[in-house]
Amino acid sequence: MKTKKREDRSASLAESQPAVPVRRILAQDLFDGVAPSYDTWAQVLTFFQYLRWRRFLVSRMALRPGNLVLDVCTGTAGVALEIADHHDGRIVGLDVSHSMLQAGLRAIEKRSLDGRIQLTQGRAEHLPFPDETFDTVVFTYLLRYVQDPDATIRELSRVLKPGGELLSLEFGIPETLWVRALWLIYNRVVMPVMTIPVSRGWHRIGCFLGPSISDFCQRYPVDRIAAIWRENGIPLVEARRLLRGAAIVMWGTKGR
Ligand SMILES: C[S@@+](CC[C@H](N)C(=O)[O-])C[C@H]1O[C@@H](n2cnc3c(N)ncnc32)[C@H](O)[C@@H]1O
Repeated sequence: MKTKKREDRSASLAESQPAVPVRRILAQDLFDGVAPSYDTWAQVLTFFQYLRWRRFLVSRMALRPGNLVLDVCTGTAGVALEIADHHDGRIVGLDVSHSMLQAGLRAIEKRSLDGRIQLTQGRAEHLPFPDETFDTVVFTYLLRYVQDPDATIRELSRVLKPGGELLSLEFGIPETLWVRALWLIYNRVVMPVMTIPVSRGWHRIGCFLGPSISDFCQRYPVDRIAAIWRENGIPLVEARRLLRGAAIVMWGTKGR
């Protein structure tokens, strides 16, 4: 059974390999330039919802003492730190951006949590861990940056133990028409303009975010993502839309 899983994984990675580096460079490029001010501006640009969404995500985790958690796209380690505040397990944070990880490391050391949180540079599409290593795998704002979301979810599920929990937080598009209209104005006009005086890096993110979210959500609505989770061993997937759908938290348990 395990051999079959491994064969499937190599096949999907081989298929997606030519385009993956392009997306990786885009993500690294975007985030390397904003790492020192990331936490502040992520909060401001989401009307101070960023921490609230993260807290809701972590509140969905059913962690037991001593559990090992993988935080994919850890960035400045905000999710890892939030988990460490509520659970006593160990956490591994993984991200492609060296600068984001450096900022994360400083935050971890400041809170003397370096004994419990370890950071590593790597790609979600090809995780440097054996099968069934983690009790919980969480990923945040990842799927828009990968070339093949199906293969990436397969890879995330691969490192999760049977009975372990997979959780995610991604941006979404509000469903109610008038809220969606406001969301569009904010993402397409307000955010690109208001990030101009902040920095060149934030202006790039301000221009990139809206079209990137719209494009991804059209191709991968929540039902399609949930179907991919089910195909990859998470039989029951729950989802909660936050701020009228501007963010979506999903969670489910891997079958035994
Ligand atoms: C929007 S930030 C989110 C950071 C953090 N999760 C948080 O909630 O504050 C997205 C992060 O995903 C990382 N990232 C993008 N594509 C990735 C990939 N393929 N593998 C690993 N990390 C990736 C970026 O470097 C960036 O740090």
